[in-house]
Amino acid sequence: MSDQPLMPSEIRRKVLSQHREIEQMLSELEAGVAQLGAGTVDGGQVKRAAYALRGILELHMNFEETYMAPAINEADGFGPERVRHLHAEHAEQRQELDRLVDAIREASSPDGLASGVTKLANMLRKDIEEEEREYVTDKLLSDNIIPTDTFGG
Ligand SMILES: [Fe+2]
Ligand SMILES: [Fe+2]
Repeated sequence: MSDQPLMPSEIRRKVLSQHREIEQMLSELEAGVAQLGAGTVDGGQVKRAAYALRGILELHMNFEETYMAPAINEADGFGPERVRHLHAEHAEQRQELDRLVDAIREASSPDGLASGVTKLANMLRKDIEEEEREYVTDKLLSDNIIPTDTFGG
């Protein structure tokens, strides 16, 4: 992690670009599962890709907690409440992610793999969509915000 402070707009851009990368990985994982029957992809590759995805999601959530949460905290009077909510959602997502990735790694049939990957992809796409609606907005992550506790009073 760098100590360089990031502007809110830059944080927003980075989070959005990480989301697009995660969605791309999900699409590739789904494409891999769809080719299981053709023999060009084997179950082990799907399992390794799912495991790698969990690592990338952990880095992504860490980035959001390190950079996005403090910026949102300063954005307006609801900042601290939003940050608490974000942490609670991440805790839930980590649990669910562990559960789904473990299920994928333990799957013993192409159908089991396919259903695990579908659940994982659906969950993550929904999380990303909600997060972009609630937090990753240009209103909350704006460079023009002057913190009230600095100049107020
Ligand atoms: Fe998140
Ligand atoms: Fe995110």
